[in-house]
Amino acid sequence: MTTPTGAPTRRISLQVNGETVVRDVECRSHLVDFLRDDCGFKGSHLGCEHGVCGACTVRLDGQIVRGCLVLAVQADGRRVETVETPTPSRRLKALQDAFIEHNALQCGYCTPGMLLAALDLVERRPGADREQVREWISGNYCRCTGYHAIVDAVCTVLEQQRAGRFADEEVGA
Ligand code: FES
Ligand code: FES
Repeated sequence: MTTPTGAPTRRISLQVNGETVVRDVECRSHLVDFLRDDCGFKGSHLGCEHGVCGACTVRLDGQIVRGCLVLAVQADGRRVETVETPTPSRRLKALQDAFIEHNALQCGYCTPGMLLAALDLVERRPGADREQVREWISGNYCRCTGYHAIVDAVCTVLEQQRAGRFADEEVGA
């Protein structure tokens, strides 16, 4: 199939934030554009569109990816989550609370991607120290905060996790 302008399309079926979505998409469409324009999830932002800034970070089958470097057709049959997921894990909710508590956002443009990158760290590197947190989020650019407050917020949730706060919740839940 093609669009009226002749661009090839393909039908895809995937889970987006827990809902099954079936759409005809242009084969050249990027995942982040599909999420924003076709699914209405505007939480994933577009910054550089070159895989550098991390504003478009989303989860694909539980792994964080750059939504501007993945084609929507590559997500066919897979599970996508954005920061707007209606069933955030307790870790993600704790990160959102900690970002607010530590004033870890100003304009908020980087925040959705930063939260998902931070969630990935909390799940995969539970023993991370402050320097490792800095390194982990270095692929997500923030032009406002200077990063200190973001690192404070992530470290707070890592401490909560080490104290057993999420012990009853599976990683990736
Ligand atoms: S918009 Fe995707 S990494 Fe910058
Ligand atoms: S809060 Fe503005 S870019 Fe991070």
